[in-house]
Amino acid sequence: MKTQIAPSILSANFADITNELKQLVDAKADIVHCDVMDGVFVPNITFGPKFIADIRKKTNLPLDVHLMIVEPERYINNFIDAGADYLTIHIEATKKLLPTLECIKKRGVKCGAVISPDTPVKILAESLSMCDIVVLMSVYPGFGGQKFIPKSIERLQELFALVKSTNPKCLIEIDGGVTLENAEAIKNIGANILVAGNTVFSSSDPKATIAALRK
Ligand code: DX5
Ligand code: ZN
Repeated sequence: MKTQIAPSILSANFADITNELKQLVDAKADIVHCDVMDGVFVPNITFGPKFIADIRKKTNLPLDVHLMIVEPERYINNFIDAGADYLTIHIEATKKLLPTLECIKKRGVKCGAVISPDTPVKILAESLSMCDIVVLMSVYPGFGGQKFIPKSIERLQELFALVKSTNPKCLIEIDGGVTLENAEAIKNIGANILVAGNTVFSSSDPKATIAALRK
């Protein structure tokens, strides 16, 4: 399967989102990554379901909604109604991981678990069979433009082995600090989706940058 590139609109101009989304389509992005932050689970606040619904009207690209909110089970229906194609929740943010993944799946949306950099990869063993996608954070969640945490490479190798042995159909996404320099190593280990915020949005040629990340 071809590697997919998911630019994170965290690095976009929210006040000019229509044009920002058009640029992503022109640049041949595969997926739009939407970072939802509540100021509690992470020290930053972004947007909620209304913004996702508004984006939904502006693009046909799949929307990958990454919830960085406590007790995400409270809001999954709102984000599904808003038009999320992928809905991912942090293992650290909920005591109801499995039932919440199941609820998402039942509504026909691709569900996934996300782990932060200090959470052991092996914790995913019990939920992977439920996941359509699994997300490995390679920065501490909260902000775009951070540096890739080097130990994420070993963690990705461990995750790849776990996915292959438990649910080989599950897509592996890496989120945070992906650059033109580290993308190849990440792809070679077996990541299927690369999130890239700063790398794409700070580029003078997003189309070339996305092509280079994918190659
Ligand atoms: C961090 C977010 C990431 C981030 C990626 O909390 O989940 O999606 O926006 O941005 P870059 O690629 O700039 O690290
Ligand atoms: Zn994200």
